[in-house]
Amino acid sequence: MFNLILFGPPGSGKGTQSANITDTYQLQHVSTGDLLRDEVSRKTPLGVEAKKYMDQGLLVPDEVVIGMISSKIDDTPEARGFIFDGFPRTKAQAEALDKLLEFKNTEIHLVLALEVPEVELIKRLVGRGATSGRSDDNEEVIVKRIKEYHAKTEPVAGYYFAQGKLERIKGDGTIDETFKLLSKEVDKYLLPA
Ligand code: AP5
Ligand code: MG
Repeated sequence: MFNLILFGPPGSGKGTQSANITDTYQLQHVSTGDLLRDEVSRKTPLGVEAKKYMDQGLLVPDEVVIGMISSKIDDTPEARGFIFDGFPRTKAQAEALDKLLEFKNTEIHLVLALEVPEVELIKRLVGRGATSGRSDDNEEVIVKRIKEYHAKTEPVAGYYFAQGKLERIKGDGTIDETFKLLSKEVDKYLLPA
């Protein structure tokens, strides 16, 4: 198994590049943002609770997200590996993920951190807001999401740096240019499927 985390601030291209990586390497894509939006649209109790945080650009509580990830990993035992997008976002989530993977006799192999200047992040997300229908794609909430990222999520990079698993990737080029930089790192572990 090969397990990858695609790390980075809101708008850095995690979702876009996860789709490219999934196609090329046949990894199972796990996006906590997508899973939460699915719960919200189905108005499940979890979704109703999560929406309160998401609409304000705040992180959903760790226990909610960790429970969701745990069942997603258990649902797909045959996966060649996972690509985690938008998770883990706190140190508690990173520690919980390590435990879940250890239980499956595997681990995180690589963390690719996309780096994009803040003005570009805001430009991309405001642009996406015109068509995405996402309740958090307006400038006021986007700024709060970026602030929450700096306060709670950025420190998670240090957790993986200390384990020698973190690679920083320039993410402000075109989608294709960024994909090439990411693939170059993944290729060191896994051949395209
Ligand atoms: P989530 O859905 O994870 O959103 P996010 O991290 O804020 O990131 P985005 O999805 O907005 O950006 P992205 O990096 O995926 O970029 P994308 O490829 O779409 O989380 C949403 C909310 O859910 C959180 O605020 C929180 O409340 C909750 N949540 C989720 N996970 C959680 C967790 N683990 N713990 C607690 N709470 C959690 O690209 C953005 C745009 O830019 C697109 O329009 C794209 O076409 C464009 N673009 C991409 N790459 C390029 C490029 N190279 N050049 C030009 N444009 C580009
Ligand atoms: Mg995304």
